[in-house]
Amino acid sequence: MTEKRAKVVAHSNIALAKYWGKASVAENLPAVPSLSMTLDGMRTTTEVVFDAALAKDQAELGGVVLAGRPLERVVALLDRVRALSSCRLRARVVSSNDFPTASGLASSASGFAALALGATRALGLTLSSEEVSALARASSASAARSLFGGFVALGANAHQAEQVAPAAHWPLVMLVAVTTQSPKATGSTEGMQHTSRTSPYYPAWVEHAPRIYAEVRRAVLAKELGPLGLAMEHSALLMHASMIAAAPAVIYWSPITLAVMAQVRELRAAGTEAYFTMDAGPHVKVLTTQENALRVEQSLGVVPGVERVIWCGVGPDAHLVEAK
Ligand code: PMV
Repeated sequence: MTEKRAKVVAHSNIALAKYWGKASVAENLPAVPSLSMTLDGMRTTTEVVFDAALAKDQAELGGVVLAGRPLERVVALLDRVRALSSCRLRARVVSSNDFPTASGLASSASGFAALALGATRALGLTLSSEEVSALARASSASAARSLFGGFVALGANAHQAEQVAPAAHWPLVMLVAVTTQSPKATGSTEGMQHTSRTSPYYPAWVEHAPRIYAEVRRAVLAKELGPLGLAMEHSALLMHASMIAAAPAVIYWSPITLAVMAQVRELRAAGTEAYFTMDAGPHVKVLTTQENALRVEQSLGVVPGVERVIWCGVGPDAHLVEAK
């Protein structure tokens, strides 16, 4: 057979307890433990075709042909998968997101999870989800978590993620307030390297992050939204404080980010349980209950500068759509 193909779907995830900083740059191992919620409303569909007619790997995302560093990262993951098999064929990768890719929203998580699953399935490799998670983690640590649905942990120094609880455990809602369409200025790898090298607050972040992670994990398992929300906000703010204290500062927030945070605090003061978190970009993700989600969505949508709000329930495992 001169062609081996698979089509898969992987969902994005948002860390409730953040990962920021690497224990090993060469192996891409995280310095701190993280815990995420997989998002049903944001997903990547990827088809990988290993084809004898190809002289080189090629990839496109949302109809745009990848070149330079983004293509190199795809090729590096394909090389790791080829190394596990006897296949030396080059591959064509066609990927699309059902959320705005160019907006600086996390797309590497679902993107590399889908690529790792798609490439291994196309070659017929029988790997466990944990083994596929380890392949994805080498490209992007947050991608390790997107192989699993529900609530997912990636330990400090861990090679692979593990599911803490399935999606059915707790039907929370994450509302993603999109604040811009422009791509982020500083990539996460570059941002974390710079923070670890220059921020006097980076050691404090690494010291405190495991405690916040433990509280997030406990609150998820106990289904206690109040303690979870406060620990989640603490994790995001401590991470951003470490970046802001870098020299020069890494600031991902915009004035709209702060306006959305203020709106969430007002909602809470008025008795609606809602909590914010931000990643390597200006968007704000707001955690709430199914019962409150419509009210929260409406009040985020009226903050000036918020372009749209993406509604996400707790998503499933990454999965195969079709293979040949
Ligand atoms: O895995 P990366 O390189 O996309 O880094 C992700 C970093 C954050 O999104 C800021 C936090 C996290 O744990 O997802």
